[in-house]
Amino acid sequence: MIRTHEYDAVIVGAGGAGLRAALEAGKRCKTAVVSKLYPTRSHTGAAQGGMCAALANVEEDSWEWHAFDTVKGGDFLADQDAVDVMCKEAVDSVLELERMGLPFNRTPDGRIDQRRFGGHTRNHGEAPVKRACYAADRTGHMILQTLYQQCNKEGVEFFSEFFVLDLILVDGVCGGIIAYEIATGDLHVFRSKSVLFATGGYGKMFKITSNAHTLTGDGPGVVFRRGLPLEDMEFFQFHPTGLYGLGILLSEAARGEGGILRNADGERFMERYAPTIKDLAPRDMVSRAEFFEIKEGRGAGPNRDYILLDLTDVDPQVVETKLPDITEFARTYLDVDPLKEGVPIVPTAHYAMGGIPTDITGAVRADHAGALVPGFYAAGECACVSVHGANRLGTNSLLDIVVFGRRGGLAMAEHANATKLPDIPEEPAKHIETMLANLFEGGGPEYSADVRTRLQAVMMDKASVVRTEESLSEALTEVQELRRRYDQCRVRDRSKVYNTEVTEHIELGYLIDMAEALVVSARARTESRGGHYREDHQLREDDHWLKHSFITKTGDGELQLAYRDVTMGRYIPVERKY
Ligand code: FUM
Repeated sequence: MIRTHEYDAVIVGAGGAGLRAALEAGKRCKTAVVSKLYPTRSHTGAAQGGMCAALANVEEDSWEWHAFDTVKGGDFLADQDAVDVMCKEAVDSVLELERMGLPFNRTPDGRIDQRRFGGHTRNHGEAPVKRACYAADRTGHMILQTLYQQCNKEGVEFFSEFFVLDLILVDGVCGGIIAYEIATGDLHVFRSKSVLFATGGYGKMFKITSNAHTLTGDGPGVVFRRGLPLEDMEFFQFHPTGLYGLGILLSEAARGEGGILRNADGERFMERYAPTIKDLAPRDMVSRAEFFEIKEGRGAGPNRDYILLDLTDVDPQVVETKLPDITEFARTYLDVDPLKEGVPIVPTAHYAMGGIPTDITGAVRADHAGALVPGFYAAGECACVSVHGANRLGTNSLLDIVVFGRRGGLAMAEHANATKLPDIPEEPAKHIETMLANLFEGGGPEYSADVRTRLQAVMMDKASVVRTEESLSEALTEVQELRRRYDQCRVRDRSKVYNTEVTEHIELGYLIDMAEALVVSARARTESRGGHYREDHQLREDDHWLKHSFITKTGDGELQLAYRDVTMGRYIPVERKY
């Protein structure tokens, strides 16, 4: 059965970016949120350490210092106009959340408390600064709950457990989406004057990741298949402190509160890699340092394959009250008490800097030259504005989703209120019905789960913290082979009710698309910058590579690369020392 709905604004994804957009649009026009998950289960809820803004509540600070850190942390690939917008609007964004009721931690005199995070410094790199506003190590959870309550207050309508399968584009104009209702297997056509994608990241292409199972690149996958470009796909961030063997995040706030990284010899090795800010260097640098400590035989444990996060010198009261969740994770999953011993950690795939290219209003770019897709917007991790450049600073993600979620919601409402509902084809979901029918037909020799396991192993091994031409070429050959195997998969479960075999199969297709785009973009970039480290091209090459990649899939499945210059501003690229 196919049901049709009509809205002014449809937002896909109910994490922080989606809800912030919905709140803004919902005040101005008829708005729906279509989400694969029940909203408060969205991955924003797993964001731990904080949301940064130069409030200067605890130490002297300024939004310009924040902007400088963001540009330098991003290895000078961020667009500086977008960074200025984000850092300037940060302060009001935090205060607005406070007024909505978000329970931030407080200073003794009642102001929002702030703590240190990697790469955030005072006066252009002099020393770490306390800039992250936080609610224990549950900041994302609190943002999600707060925004969901506000959206309900504004009368936003929710379609929870609806999985986006396509974007309706007519002559390049966005006219809505097609979604699959997970509870029933029914298809729904959402006609809309404006659509915003806020579907999150795609960390599940890697074996060790902090990302939830649901982070499979659905939004960027749909966009890519529609022939629209993805930007900066080679830049993927590995967070330095994922629980050993599992990848579950242990917040950088642990180091912000005084935690130290040690190798097997007990050495505080970050003193060698970043003498000024040590363990609070940006994530790409710390993850690489960990990688080389392990590779050179200084890893801890029986197999010398992990690093230790040492919190034993941090006040136990601080650990238990400001870091309660991660303390519990270490105890529950590894049977390690952080108050008494080092916690085994490794770099974990955490955040996609690349994604759907947008301008600073959230409008999606149709090409590298600057054309836009009328009526189509994106925000949050699935988007690339680009504020994070080649490496995002911790706590800039919760900030990004709030600032650009709000801007996207405003822009889509303004667009909706100035246009009429676009005409769409008579049977817009016909091709999706055919795709689903084919999936159920006959018995293919392959299982999606096997293909996914292999994809995650290949990407972890050949396209993660350290890459080479050879490893990326091998990854590409394997990913293309996995695509052939994927096409041989069929689902065995024929039911229509909560058929997770169907949804997981479709998710895997998006992951394969994202993996191929990442590997092709990474192989072409013959330099090292931020999260993209090439052992065979170790230097940053500003003369040639100070530009964003745009990768597009042509009608016959070929991938094409084009480039757009970085928008520069006050900050001239310099060597990135910390
Ligand atoms: O370490 C953390 O708490 C993660 C924060 C972030 O990714 O921004």
